[in-house]
Amino acid sequence: MWRQAVLFGLFLLPFTVQAAESSGDAQAGYDHLINTVYLPPYFDQEAFDNVWRVWPEPLKAEAEKASAARRREMAYERYGLTGRPEDETKPLQYVVDAKGNWTLNCFSCHGGQIEGKPYPGLPNNRFDFAGITDEIRLTKALLGKKLIPTDYSSLVFPMGANKGTTNAVNFGVALMSLRDADLNLVPGASFPRMLHHDMEPPPWWHFSQKQNIYLDGFAPKGHRGLMQFTMVRENDAQAFRDREDDFRDIYAYLTSLKPPKYSGKIEQGKAARGKIVFNKHCSECHGTYGEVVDYPERTIPIDEIKTDRARLDALTPEHRKSYGDSWFNTYGEQKGLVADPEGYVAPPLTGVWASAPYLHNGSVPTLWHLLHPDERPKIWRWKGLGYDHQRMGIEVEPLEKVPPRLSTMERREIFNTGRFGKSAQGHDFPNALTEPQRDEVLEYLKTL
Ligand code: HEC
Ligand code: HEC
Repeated sequence: MWRQAVLFGLFLLPFTVQAAESSGDAQAGYDHLINTVYLPPYFDQEAFDNVWRVWPEPLKAEAEKASAARRREMAYERYGLTGRPEDETKPLQYVVDAKGNWTLNCFSCHGGQIEGKPYPGLPNNRFDFAGITDEIRLTKALLGKKLIPTDYSSLVFPMGANKGTTNAVNFGVALMSLRDADLNLVPGASFPRMLHHDMEPPPWWHFSQKQNIYLDGFAPKGHRGLMQFTMVRENDAQAFRDREDDFRDIYAYLTSLKPPKYSGKIEQGKAARGKIVFNKHCSECHGTYGEVVDYPERTIPIDEIKTDRARLDALTPEHRKSYGDSWFNTYGEQKGLVADPEGYVAPPLTGVWASAPYLHNGSVPTLWHLLHPDERPKIWRWKGLGYDHQRMGIEVEPLEKVPPRLSTMERREIFNTGRFGKSAQGHDFPNALTEPQRDEVLEYLKTL
């Protein structure tokens, strides 16, 4: 009898999980992300069109003389926004409704650009969450518009000290602490102690390859968990239940994504030699690609990987467990939660050429620097928006020290690895390679 029950259970379990997860429609998922409002609207078209009025000179004077289209472009560039692949006049990162209200969507962090083209699912390495929040608040004040609580968020909660990285993990910690397992708001609940730090999101095309998500791999994958990012107070417990079908579609959309292909030339012979080196030195953690595709999803203890540990320490076993016991994780019915992970999961490397900067905190500007642990710059600054095909990544200028008298906006262009949560150390494995081998692996990485 029990044998039958076990066997039945074994069959039933993968079957039901799969049925629940594969029921969404990927195209509908994308449409929800760009058209459906899941958060309170944040500002209107008038505020966005006038934001240049609070810019510093000479940018303001340039914007004043510019056409409306050029002004929009300038604002996009300043805050790290892009057009949508199917309509360049609308922002990928915001839902804009019929009344002209703008609402942040998942692509603010998860939709960036590569060589001037928007690519949904690519980490948005230019998003300036604090910058747009600050300058929209000033614009609203200038226009005599009513301010809402979101307008003050950058004053009370660190949002992100560098372009392209945010304190998103702690937004989750803070908002989850206000709710019970059913996601009802708990009266009088307060934020726990938090270890603020910034992270760059991983590319969404990795989603299909993972069983568990997040850098420490703590959370089993499911459509409900994707709603965490809509946990503002305005959404009550019922709102999450009403949106389950939408998020089944969004889950299907994430599962359908593919990495962008490398746009430059690849020296095939060199790349083939690089593959042999990679398979010997890297694939035990990162898997194999090509004919034999195998992604092991291995967690590497923090003392072995030695990259910045703020992210690991920022989540407590209690926090992970309360997430695991909540509606987001079907009250623990969905198995596989890891309350006390030892370190970080080695990510798949498909499309890795496009997702600079590297390491989870975005501290390493190019793949060349990742492969040369001793030559990573301690302080670096963005140098234009071009792609560095030599070193494979973003074009940067190393600095001796942080220049004095910068505006807060300019400071967010400078990555200082000496600051908390921003270390570029660790992942020293490439030091086992000779210089020609590193060169070959760099070539191979272009093919993934
Ligand atoms: C403010 C920035 C931000 C927004 C907005 C945001 N995310 Fe993320 N997302 C992140 C960061 C940072 C991580 C990495 C967290 C970690 O690994 O601990 C992440 C991780 C994820 C992951 C895990 C990916 C993996 O491979 O492990 C998924 C899935 C995801 N986000 C989906 C969403 C969805 C769906 C939305 C919108 C409903 C959304 N995110 C909105 C910043 C954001
Ligand atoms: C012992 C396991 C292990 C080995 C061996 C290893 N890596 Fe990694 N790798 C990781 C982990 C874990 C991370 C994530 C670290 C983080 O973000 O803090 C990572 C991150 C990376 C990244 C950055 C990915 C991104 O999007 O930020 C690249 C690129 C990479 N590894 C390439 C390599 C190459 C090339 C080799 C071989 C020379 C290699 N790795 C060997 C575990 C490993």
